[in-house]
Amino acid sequence: MAELNKDEEKIGGFSIEGYNENATPQLLTLLQSRDSVLESLNHALSLTTETIYIADYGSSEGKNSMILFNEAINTFRESSLKPIHIIHNDLPTNNWEKTFKTLLNSPNTYLNCPNTTFSAIGKSFYERILPDNFIHLAISSRSFQYLSQPLSTPDNIVLSASNDPEFKARAAEIAHQDMVNFLLLRHKELASRGRLIFQVADEKSHMGQIGALNGASESIFRKGIITEEEWKDLTLSLYGRSTEEVERALNETSHLYKAISIEKVIHRKSGLSLMNAEELKEHIVKFKSLAGTVMAGPFSKSLKTRAEDEKQEILKLYMEEIGEVQVIFDNDSYLHSVVLEKID
Ligand SMILES: C[S@@+](CC[C@H](N)C(=O)[O-])C[C@H]1O[C@@H](n2cnc3c(N)ncnc32)[C@H](O)[C@@H]1O
Repeated sequence: MAELNKDEEKIGGFSIEGYNENATPQLLTLLQSRDSVLESLNHALSLTTETIYIADYGSSEGKNSMILFNEAINTFRESSLKPIHIIHNDLPTNNWEKTFKTLLNSPNTYLNCPNTTFSAIGKSFYERILPDNFIHLAISSRSFQYLSQPLSTPDNIVLSASNDPEFKARAAEIAHQDMVNFLLLRHKELASRGRLIFQVADEKSHMGQIGALNGASESIFRKGIITEEEWKDLTLSLYGRSTEEVERALNETSHLYKAISIEKVIHRKSGLSLMNAEELKEHIVKFKSLAGTVMAGPFSKSLKTRAEDEKQEILKLYMEEIGEVQVIFDNDSYLHSVVLEKID
């Protein structure tokens, strides 16, 4: 079970401990951008005579982007030995020790590719991170769906799934400003004609799983395990964007970027109704493990007045509750997958 991390209280509780072990579905969609990464690396050859700099914004513990970069760079190395330096970025509370150990020790590390090095920066990507005109290829996968500030939701752990129109409008505006800000900041950090590749969650993504997490939160509130205030504070600060919302932010920054491709990626996984008993059992165990991982930060934030052992006990009860919630999971993951090129 994921441990609550005290430090996570300090920065909205978005850090995801144990991500490497539980993020295979995320890897499968990320790998769909392999061709775009390879093409952008080839494009980067015309942008610099020296090192190609890649930035990975919101890399978590690093395993997923490491595999993506390893595959793309291996192919790239068949035609170019130009040095590549990869900068991983996440919040200061990210498990950086795990990132470094993964990159240094995994058989799938891109560090096995010649002339390839890395570094890491622990700082919010809603701020400037790198010098002007520095990066030739920027990547961000499923990261800026986490907003710049934690919000208390009236009814749903995922902000975009709230049924309260006033709250939804406020969260939508913050999500819009965050995306525009992210695009403005990366525009400054990208070299002339550098590329930005991102994947960000759609509003319809993982509704069954979100339903299960919500059901468990409501259930521990109804049983008197947490207070109403703690329940409302139990938010992932995660906002899935509609196609119109993505287009609105892209239109607002269209003087800064040329769109290379904008598409919707759908990764379909069979619903629980299609699984046999054994698969169902395994699926619930995996889902609970991911839930403990993803919810550890929000619990730490919402239970801020509780003692540490009490927090751990409540998280345990919450995870037990998930198993009792009868939801036919709609596990489909919907993402907006976008490739942009900087215009000076
Ligand atoms: C769902 S994980 C995605 C990890 C990885 N990119 C992947 O595709 O598997 C989202 C990551 O974004 C990070 N994140 C959220 N807000 C951030 C911020 N303001 N600055 C930097 N990283 C942030 C989280 O800490 C988390 O590690």
